[in-house]
Amino acid sequence: MFTTSVMKWTVLVSMLHLVLGQNLLLNGEIESMTHWDCCCFKCELTTVHHQGQHAIKVTGRTQDWNGPSQTLVNVKPSGRYRVSGYAKLLNDLPNEIGQNIGMDVEVTFNDGRKTYISAAFNPLTRVSDGWVHVKGDFDIPAQDVKSSRLYWQGPSPGVNFVVDSISLTDLTENTNWRGESDAVIDRVRKSDINFKVTLSGDVKSDDVEIDVIQTKKAFPFGTAVTCKDYLNGDQRYQDFINKHFNWGVTQNAIKWDLMEQQQGHIDYDTPINAIKKLRSNGLKVRAHNIVWSVPQFVPQWVRPMTGNTLRQTVHYRVQDIVNRTKDLVEHWDVNNENLHGFWFQNTLNDRDYNLEIFRIAHQAGPKVKLFLNDYNVVADGGFTMAYKNQAIRFKNANVGLYGVGVQCHFADNVKPDPTLIKEHLDTIAQAGVPIWVTELDVYQTDEKIRADWYETAFRAFYGHPAVEGIMFWGFWSNNHYRGEPASLVTGSSFRVNAAGQRYLDLTEKQWMTNETHALSQTGNAFKVRGFHGDYDVIVKVRGKEVPTLKKTFTLGKSAHTVNINVHQ
Ligand SMILES: *[C@@H]1O[C@H](CO)[C@@H](O)[C@H](O)[C@H]1NC(C)=O
Ligand SMILES: *[C@@H]1O[C@H](CO)[C@@H](O)[C@H](O)[C@H]1NC(C)=O
Repeated sequence: MFTTSVMKWTVLVSMLHLVLGQNLLLNGEIESMTHWDCCCFKCELTTVHHQGQHAIKVTGRTQDWNGPSQTLVNVKPSGRYRVSGYAKLLNDLPNEIGQNIGMDVEVTFNDGRKTYISAAFNPLTRVSDGWVHVKGDFDIPAQDVKSSRLYWQGPSPGVNFVVDSISLTDLTENTNWRGESDAVIDRVRKSDINFKVTLSGDVKSDDVEIDVIQTKKAFPFGTAVTCKDYLNGDQRYQDFINKHFNWGVTQNAIKWDLMEQQQGHIDYDTPINAIKKLRSNGLKVRAHNIVWSVPQFVPQWVRPMTGNTLRQTVHYRVQDIVNRTKDLVEHWDVNNENLHGFWFQNTLNDRDYNLEIFRIAHQAGPKVKLFLNDYNVVADGGFTMAYKNQAIRFKNANVGLYGVGVQCHFADNVKPDPTLIKEHLDTIAQAGVPIWVTELDVYQTDEKIRADWYETAFRAFYGHPAVEGIMFWGFWSNNHYRGEPASLVTGSSFRVNAAGQRYLDLTEKQWMTNETHALSQTGNAFKVRGFHGDYDVIVKVRGKEVPTLKKTFTLGKSAHTVNINVHQ
């Protein structure tokens, strides 16, 4: 009796921990130094706390990876974990616009190899930010893991900080993701079409059939386009784009360092002619990108510039390229990968200069939708929260941010994980701006497995209400930067491989509406739940189309009514 109730109690407690998210760290609340290691720099308890009475104050750092750490005794191979904590800087450095602070997980394998996972980071942190919430997630590799350790780290040597309220919790697999995705697809990608048919003359219900045929998709499915190939290359490449995508994005040709390799010698023709050709074939265009803050992608001739010369040069680039494209493109990626690179802000020693670049772009082309665009924010979870915060900062600054691009380059041989994709999209969606999947690719040599991986990713994205468009970063192995293992179309034979077939099956069959209704089955009033887009309605009497009764319409977010009066 006693044993049973103790067992029941134990089970109840462990279930509660699961529900409440048991903290798998030891002394994560930090009321003492127990379980926290600080080698080769100084840690002490301080009463400057986020919660409870104490926190750890870190000083005397000589390396950016110096920070309190703890061996993870409660994590399992293949496990998914959420990590969260609070950090506060105690000093800024005069020549640095901010500090990257967060948590890395060091995984040691049985053979001694180590790998480092960025679990949660907040870039450009300053003293004036106060307590910063750092949150993210990661998964532990499936095999041969000997041990793992969580490290606070990131700020430059000489920066002191305090950390508190640190937790590590299980992120449980969402086994119902497919059902949830299907429900969202039905709710947000479709609307009702209400048919009301009246019959006159000698026409009877049994005589009438109605075809409801979607002729065009509203939802953007697109690809990166190699401008030169689209203008002058393989005809099959051009035709595939025109036939199977409704959006294109300039892959390289309009990037600053490529179109203007020497100051003033600017190749406008390649990208702008490609954009015009895409438009003439009915595609809409994203332009990518105005500036790129990762140092290696800043044009060589710009790199020596500083101060007002740099500001004026950037101002000219932004105005010039937006002036020339504002009536041709729907979107601009303004400042590429600005969670990972800060060249312009660093060089000008101005943390807010990234807002200024948006302001200039927005003024030059107020109707163009402006985007942030970044990587490892959905395919990985270490910078997801930081991306949400960046989007909120841009939104609140009123500089014309429309949405955020999530690149989604999944790592080599890594299967897209629908649980994590949803977790990341949910986090980013909290910023309250639309999300576009801008640069999707997976990498898997087996094309049948690749097909499954692309389908999983597509269902996770299309089945998320904040996602407004999905673009591949290329599709043909011959000009894809990751080659055959990422492709939908293989080699010089231009074979649409298993992944390509899957893409076509999803976007042209499963997610298009094409139904025939016999009034004998449906009665004279019936409803079709159709995917958003353009429709033809064909009325057939005794198997023969009546051309005068044909209807066309566009189905959007609200229900549409079709009245048909069949008389013969
Ligand atoms: C862009 O257009 C505006 C408005 O016509 C003009 O004032 C500005 O000089 C142009 N900028 C560039 C760099 O061409
Ligand atoms: C609609 O479905 C019918 C019957 O399966 C098929 O013959 C036709 O080609 C389809 N039309 C479109 C536009 O997909």
